[in-house]
Amino acid sequence: MLTVDHLRKRLPDGKLLLRDINFSVGEGEFVAILGLSGTGKTILLRCINRLTTPDGGEIVLTDNGSSLNITESNAGEIREVRRRIGMIFQGFNLVKRRSVIENVLIGKLGRISVVRSLMRRFEDGDVEMAHRALSRVGILDLADRRAGTLSGGEQQRVAIARSIVQDPCLLLADEPVANLDPTTAEVVMNHLRSISVDNGISALAVLHQPELARKYATRVLGVRDGVIVYDGDARLSDDDFELIYGGNNA
Ligand SMILES: Nc1ncnc2c1ncn2[C@@H]1O[C@H](COP(=O)(O)OP(=O)(O)OP(=O)(O)O)[C@@H](O)[C@H]1O
Ligand SMILES: [Mg+2]
Repeated sequence: MLTVDHLRKRLPDGKLLLRDINFSVGEGEFVAILGLSGTGKTILLRCINRLTTPDGGEIVLTDNGSSLNITESNAGEIREVRRRIGMIFQGFNLVKRRSVIENVLIGKLGRISVVRSLMRRFEDGDVEMAHRALSRVGILDLADRRAGTLSGGEQQRVAIARSIVQDPCLLLADEPVANLDPTTAEVVMNHLRSISVDNGISALAVLHQPELARKYATRVLGVRDGVIVYDGDARLSDDDFELIYGGNNA
């Protein structure tokens, strides 16, 4: 459902950061991306949701039989790409001055101004849908709180609820639990995995903890020196670990 083929991306200084990235993610897979800091994991995700433009190769997203060529999309198609791809960030990316429920509704409606006009129309089912999403991640009681007053773990669960109402076919997560304590990280990872399994959403998550990848991912991609050096089981052997993180063959 996501295919990345011979992807290349240069930095502004001309350095070829991603040299030849090839992988695909099947329906319902939960794939962890591992790699040293600075290898281009974030840039890879940004190529996939077209926050940045690749320099070569092809990325294709297939959903319900219809294919979108992400690399060749025009502005209208890029909007459609972003609608079909949910994003979870390390820093949560909520509108901190707005309520939790408004932040969740952004997933459905795209803009806060639309959310505000909708909130005054009680007949609409979207608010109900947002409540259900908050309930699924266990924070319905926080619906009316300002997002900025929540703890990190609570904010990340709001971001997950926002993704649920967006109803994407692919979820991209960039270090979703990097700012959280180990226990809260497990809670958030569990929610991510649940929505992937229950809603049939494929997930691609950059993680810095191989043990979380082992526990939650169905597969691991290791990025190093601009290519995928490992694509396989989430239980890494010592050799696999060395291949991805080791210091000798950089
Ligand atoms: N806009 C930019 N201009 C110049 N260099 C950039 C830009 N964006 C990223 N880079 C560089 O590209 C490299 C890869 O960045 P990226 O953020 O993708 O790494 P990463 O693998 O996500 O690292 P980390 O694990 O630390 O998040 C880094 O050296 C970074 O400084
Ligand atoms: Mg990064």
